[in-house]
Amino acid sequence: MNLKYTIVLAAGLAACKHENKPQATQQQVTTRADDAHSFSDPKQAVVKHLNLKLTVDFDKKQICGMADWAISAKKGAKTIIFDTNDLQIDSVKVDGDSTSYSLGHEDEFLGRPLNVKINSASKRVSIWYKTSSDAAALQWLNPQQTADKKYPFLFTQSEAILARSWVPCQDSPGIRFTYDAKVSVPKELMAVMSASNVTQKNTSGTYQFNQKNAIPSYLMALAVGDLEFRSLGRNTGVYAEPSVIKKAAWEFEGLQKMMDSAEKLYGKYRWGRYDVLVLPPSFPFGGMENPELTFATPTIIAGDRSLVSLLAHELAHSWSGNLVTNATWNDMWLNEGFTNYFERRIMEKMEGKNYADMLAQLGFQELQGTLQDLGATNPDTKLKLDLKGRNPDDGLTDIAYEKGYCLLRVMENAAGRERFDAFLNKYFASHAFQTITTEEFINYYYKELIKGDKALGDKIAIEKWVYEPGLPDNCPKFTSARFDEVNKALEQWINGTAASALPTNAWSSHEWLHFVRHLPENITTTQMKELDKAFHFTQSGNSEVLGAWLLLSVKKRYVAAYPALNTFLENVGRRRFILPIYKQLAASEDGKKMAKDIYSKARPNYHYVAQESIDNLLK
Ligand code: BES
Ligand code: ZN
Repeated sequence: MNLKYTIVLAAGLAACKHENKPQATQQQVTTRADDAHSFSDPKQAVVKHLNLKLTVDFDKKQICGMADWAISAKKGAKTIIFDTNDLQIDSVKVDGDSTSYSLGHEDEFLGRPLNVKINSASKRVSIWYKTSSDAAALQWLNPQQTADKKYPFLFTQSEAILARSWVPCQDSPGIRFTYDAKVSVPKELMAVMSASNVTQKNTSGTYQFNQKNAIPSYLMALAVGDLEFRSLGRNTGVYAEPSVIKKAAWEFEGLQKMMDSAEKLYGKYRWGRYDVLVLPPSFPFGGMENPELTFATPTIIAGDRSLVSLLAHELAHSWSGNLVTNATWNDMWLNEGFTNYFERRIMEKMEGKNYADMLAQLGFQELQGTLQDLGATNPDTKLKLDLKGRNPDDGLTDIAYEKGYCLLRVMENAAGRERFDAFLNKYFASHAFQTITTEEFINYYYKELIKGDKALGDKIAIEKWVYEPGLPDNCPKFTSARFDEVNKALEQWINGTAASALPTNAWSSHEWLHFVRHLPENITTTQMKELDKAFHFTQSGNSEVLGAWLLLSVKKRYVAAYPALNTFLENVGRRRFILPIYKQLAASEDGKKMAKDIYSKARPNYHYVAQESIDNLLK
């Protein structure tokens, strides 16, 4: 990057000025270049520590701040480059002095580079800035959009490349830094971050945070709302709005046990506390593994603890992802595939093999659907992706998660569980707080798992999995004893047994999900009515089951479910649920009209990432 673009003069008239001294970090951090999704040039200069001062203004829907970066400049460095997206840069100083800086041309997905003049002795870059009212990472909710409907709410979602829309940063997963933050919010609200958090509101409205472990920018997170906290054990707890906290604490009661199971599998938890923040329903994901504070959708509060494997997933990221991080978004399977594997191992430890087998089966069904949609020769079905020139969010499919999972199962089966677990333990320990590319992983795998055993290497055929599209033929056959029972019940029903007479008493939501997903293609609305009467799918409080049922209802034009469909789409912003339904609606002319009608009302309730996907679909 160069400085040929508009020179913006250091104005220094920031409305909310923050002063502070950056703290240098002790941590050894690794950096890596050639990330196609960041303008930063770590070969010249990298960030090491962030001291952030923010004021959150709900009226203006704006964060006004000062990002004070401790940097490390290499010999001969002339410029440090930050990523920004829709940020207003008010002033920049280097080591306390005004300096020249420029904002480069805007890229559709990447935003604009902020080039700041430095030299190799420069230590500190301070940036005064404001966010735009439609900053991609931020969702500003009015009281009506929260559970309690009393106070507004704000949350961030930084993964994959949205951190740059609320903090000027080197927004690459290959660059790590520690942070401190001081955040001022309206006095009646509380601020929490992906860092150490207090458990009670204070009267000043100012909250301080410290993240002492070096993290990549996509793990920076902030939420502001009317929050309460409940402890769930030694180092686990939950934050939620007052009307949700009790239900959430009940639902997540097993969180401490989950932590203990995870630690037994792959080593000590390195982040101090593990708390979960339950967000309003517009949160676009199921969960987001923000360090020390997972952000979660309220749709996992099913009332029967049946959807807690999602927390196992986010907890597992504390090792795969947060401790050992994919170097670029092309390597995302290293985050998500490993995490899916770890999640299912945790669930196996807690609930037994039959339970974990159900999760693997459901995942495999999703993988088959994705392979069918994308086509088995589509390059996006390789584990190593090539997302250059694209929004990394677009390459985000089940492939990284489920094909990645399958590969780890192949390794486990071939090497034996004991040996594979020892390998994973060592992998996490030896790469802690580092980033890793697919190629580096493959080298490590040859050195530490294969160890010259050619037969073992051939049996796994890692290169095929990573660099070739589709599903290699050494993919394991997954079976599930509990789903076999569901299949039997389905057959009975198809052969005439009344729905109410099926042996469904002991079914968990996973069995129900499998049942709904495997109802016959040619099911009639009369049959759906019978099922609904017996099992109350349209009224289901389980978001997974309801989501699958509503999808089927759209496919089959089961209009009795349409009022529930409207309510669901207007309230829930979790993209994994709503996108398939919108897609199905958009498949027919009248359906598309209906989708557009619903979306016009629902859109303000969705986060930017969900809006982006659905805008594209319905345009
Ligand atoms: N890290 C992801 C969410 C994510 C991925 C956000 C890529 C942005 C870009 C998180 O851990 C995740 O995978 N969430 C899943 C739940 C999981 C159980 C599969 C989700 O939100 O559905
Ligand atoms: Zn994940």
